[in-house]
Amino acid sequence: MNILLLGSGGREHAFARSISQSNMCSQLFITPGNPGTAQHGKNIPIGVTDFEAIKKCCLENKIELVVVGPEDPLVNGIYDFFISDSELKSIPVIGPSKDAAQLEGSKAFAKEFMLKHHIPTAAYQSFDASRIEEGLVFIRTLITPVVLKADGLAAGKGVLICQTLDEAEEEFQNMLHGKFGAASERVVVEEFLHGTEMSVFVLTDGIDYLLLPTAKDYKRIGEGDTGLNTGGMGAISPVPFADDVLMKKIVMRMIRPTIDGLQQDKLVYKGFIYFGLMIVHNEPFMIEYNCRMGDPETEAVLPRIESDLVELFFAVANEKLNEKKITISSKHCATIVLTSGGYPEYYEKGKTINGIDSINDSIVFHAGTELKNGELQTSGGRVLAVTSLGNTLDEALLISNTNAEKIQFDKKYFRRDIGFDVLNLKN
Ligand SMILES: Nc1ncnc2c1ncn2[C@@H]1O[C@H](COP(=O)(O)OP(=O)(O)O)[C@@H](O)[C@H]1O
Ligand SMILES: [Mg+2]
Repeated sequence: MNILLLGSGGREHAFARSISQSNMCSQLFITPGNPGTAQHGKNIPIGVTDFEAIKKCCLENKIELVVVGPEDPLVNGIYDFFISDSELKSIPVIGPSKDAAQLEGSKAFAKEFMLKHHIPTAAYQSFDASRIEEGLVFIRTLITPVVLKADGLAAGKGVLICQTLDEAEEEFQNMLHGKFGAASERVVVEEFLHGTEMSVFVLTDGIDYLLLPTAKDYKRIGEGDTGLNTGGMGAISPVPFADDVLMKKIVMRMIRPTIDGLQQDKLVYKGFIYFGLMIVHNEPFMIEYNCRMGDPETEAVLPRIESDLVELFFAVANEKLNEKKITISSKHCATIVLTSGGYPEYYEKGKTINGIDSINDSIVFHAGTELKNGELQTSGGRVLAVTSLGNTLDEALLISNTNAEKIQFDKKYFRRDIGFDVLNLKN
């Protein structure tokens, strides 16, 4: 059958690779894709939120399944667009409905959902511009640092961690006065949790779920987790400290109540749920939901899944996930992201990339690359993601680091310390 994948980053290259390995996939199309996804299917230059063009593409290419990579089309209602169109409604879309995608699209909605379904999370209140005074009073009751979150989608830039109450009060008002545009018309103010972050992913048909490999990503630009936040500089899977006891707590306290809560609240969800967690003294707290897979975590998670992904997607579409099992490799996976120097601030594009062809013991996923006059060039801040499997985390990291060195482009930068914080723990 023919399958359409939406998106253009490293995550989508990883999806394209896994989907194209399925016996069920005859032809894969990617909109808009990148030079990496083009190795596994046909790229079509259509934006991920151009639903009418996506419809045309589906009909022309006899698409029988749509897999959505990024959050934008989901929050904008692509699932509902397909269901309510007579020509598209028989084509399953892997992703949540627009209402359910609010778990990512609105932080206030997500916090209310967590509270309602008794899912442990940081104490919070949410405010709009009509309640600035109450917000300032609430901030004064918190211990620093104080976390301020723009309610809406802000491309990973809408969360501020304020070290003093004065700064929190000022930023709170800036946000309500449009610092992040419409995204910060409502602001969630919450207590800061001290702990270690990790991510858990499930694939759900709305009734049952399959647990995917755990992962930990590294968001800061600098080694030792310092400097500015980025889209993600690397990831490892599995998370060494996520033992059976912790995973049991996460299933009982987060995953099961979330799936049951979706049903109870009649939120239609057939896709991936990302649980962003903070582990505080071995107790898990929810930081956020994403309604899709993370990037670069996907590049470390999918290569460990041995089951046929397309088969699982159809089980999701037909609400038959309870009949499926997932096979996960016992190997460790390490992903290192190569970025353009200067990222996440100003960086140059159009640099020639060399050395990918010489690598055969890692998978090199494309994130921000383009082909120009037959030459592979950089076209974004995050350029490539180098993923390796190993019998231990150290081994996987060593292979990725070695190959990250071999790839060349002007002002290339990558963190050489991915996994540093967990390497001393058991492996
Ligand atoms: N309550 C909190 N306590 C400590 N750190 C937090 C808290 N909420 C968010 N953070 C930090 O801020 C980052 C971004 O917040 P998150 O809710 O994941 O928003 P987004 O990914 O949409 O930017 C988190 O990955 C985490 O490092
Ligand atoms: Mg996040």
